[in-house]
Amino acid sequence: MYDLAVIGGGPAGYVAAAKAGAAGMSVVLFEKEEVGGVCLNEGCIPTKTLLYSAKLLENAVGAAKYGVEVPEARADVRALAKRKDKVVKKLVGGVKVQLRDAGVTVVKEAAAVKSYAPGRIVIESASGAVEAARLLICTGSETVIPPIPGIEGNPAALSSRELLEINEIPDSLVVIGGGVIGMEFASLFNSLGSRVTVIEMLPKILGPMDDEISAMLQAQYAKKGVVFHLGCKVLKADGNAVSFQTPEGEVQSVEGAKILVSVGRRARLEGLEALPLELNQRPRGIKVNAAMATSLEGVWAAGDVTGFSMLAHTASREAEVAVDNMLGIPSEMRYDAIPSVVYTNPEVAGVGLTEQEASARGTEVLVKKLPMAYSGRFTAENDRGEGLCKILLTPDGSRILGVHMLGNPSSEILPAACLAIENGLGAEAFRQTVFPHPGVAEILKETLK
Ligand code: NAI
Repeated sequence: MYDLAVIGGGPAGYVAAAKAGAAGMSVVLFEKEEVGGVCLNEGCIPTKTLLYSAKLLENAVGAAKYGVEVPEARADVRALAKRKDKVVKKLVGGVKVQLRDAGVTVVKEAAAVKSYAPGRIVIESASGAVEAARLLICTGSETVIPPIPGIEGNPAALSSRELLEINEIPDSLVVIGGGVIGMEFASLFNSLGSRVTVIEMLPKILGPMDDEISAMLQAQYAKKGVVFHLGCKVLKADGNAVSFQTPEGEVQSVEGAKILVSVGRRARLEGLEALPLELNQRPRGIKVNAAMATSLEGVWAAGDVTGFSMLAHTASREAEVAVDNMLGIPSEMRYDAIPSVVYTNPEVAGVGLTEQEASARGTEVLVKKLPMAYSGRFTAENDRGEGLCKILLTPDGSRILGVHMLGNPSSEILPAACLAIENGLGAEAFRQTVFPHPGVAEILKETLK
C-alpha cells in the first residue's frame, strides 16, 4: 500500500508528489499524458515560448525607433513551433528527474477511484489496481465549449490547445472571449500578422483585472489593429463566420480563418465517481478547506479541480499546503496575494484588491498611481511606451492591499508586491528598502512616495 496516490501530474500533482516523496512517503502518481500537465505541455510554457518569439519580432520590426535597422524581420512558423516543442520537452524532462529523484512511481495511465474507505483507497488504471492510505486529486481543468450553435464540430473553431498546434499563421482570427487566454492569443497572432477580432460578452476585456488597466491595454491593442466587440453576445458560428449581437441589439458578423474559443475552463471530475465528495457548485469544483482537505478523510485536492483561482502557481502552493498537512505540519492556503499576469506585450500584472472590488465591498482605500514612464529604465526601454502602476493601501498607508501594473516587465516586478501583501507591509517598508537604479521596479517606490 502506498502512503499517497496522486491523480494528475500538473503543477499541483507533480509538486505534491515530489515533495511527499522527498519527505519519505511512498508515492504513486498517475498521469495519462505527460507530466507537467496543461501548464507545461499545452498552456503556460508553450504560449510563453511563442509569445517571446512574437515579442522579438515586434521589437525587430520596431527597432528603428531605437536606432537599430532590421531590414527583413519575419516569423518562421515552423521554427517557432520546433523551438516551442524543444522548450516543453526540456522542462518535462526536468519534472521527470525531480519525480525520479524523489522516488515517485509514475504510472502513465488514466486512473479512476474504484473504492473508498478511510485509510484504504483503491485506484484503478489499465495496468491494474493499487491501494493508498491517502489520495490527492489534481485532475485539473478542461476548456469549456459554450453551447453556441455551430461551434461544436466546426473545423475552424479551436481551443487554445488546438490553436497552439497549427503550423501556419491564419490571415484572420476571431477570438470568442476576451479573458486571459483570449488576450494572450490575440497578442500572439496580432504580432505574427493575423487580423484579430475579439468578441467579449462583458463590457471590458480581462474581467477581474483592474478596469483602468484593462482599458489601457485594450486601447494599445486597438492601436495595433485588434478589433474589439465588447458587451456582445455571440449568436452562432457558421463555418468561418461568427454572428453576434451588439449592446444596441444590432446583429453583426465577422469572419475568421480560425476561431478561438476561450470562454473559460472547468474542473475535470471524471474518474472520481466512486468518491462521495462534497462539491462547490459555482464555480463547480471539489470543496476543500484551508488545509486543502476535502470532505472525505484522507482525501485532498489541489489545483484547477477546486474550480477557482485556476492558475499554475496557485495549484503548486495548494499542493504544498496539502502535503504539509498530510505530514502533520500545520499549513493554510491563503488567496489574498495570488498574482495574476497576462503575458501580452505589454504585460499586465496584478495582485490583491482592485479598485472595483474595494468599491463593491465598501472598503475605504488610498489609491496611488503613476505612469510607468516615471521609471528611467522603463522610458529607456519603451519608446513612447504607456504604462501604469497603481497601488491600493489602507487609508493610513500602513498596509498594501493591491498592486496593478501595465508595462514590461511588470510580471517580474510583481513578486515584491506579493511579498508586501503576504507580509502585511506598507509604504514605509518600500521607502526604507533600496532598489537597484535604474530599474523598472523603482516605479513601486516612486508610486508610494
Ligand atoms: P477567462 O475566464 O479568463 O475568460 C473568459 C472570457 O470569456 C470572460 O471574459 C467571459 O466574460 C468571456 N465569455 C464567456 N462566455 C462568452 C461568450 N459566449 N461570448 C463571448 N465571451 C464570453 O477564461 P480563459 O481566458 O478561457 O482562461 C481559462 C483559465 O486559464 C483562466 O482561469 C485563467 O486564469 C487561466 N489562464 C491563465 C493564464 C495566465 O495566468 N497568464 C494564461 C491562460 C489561462
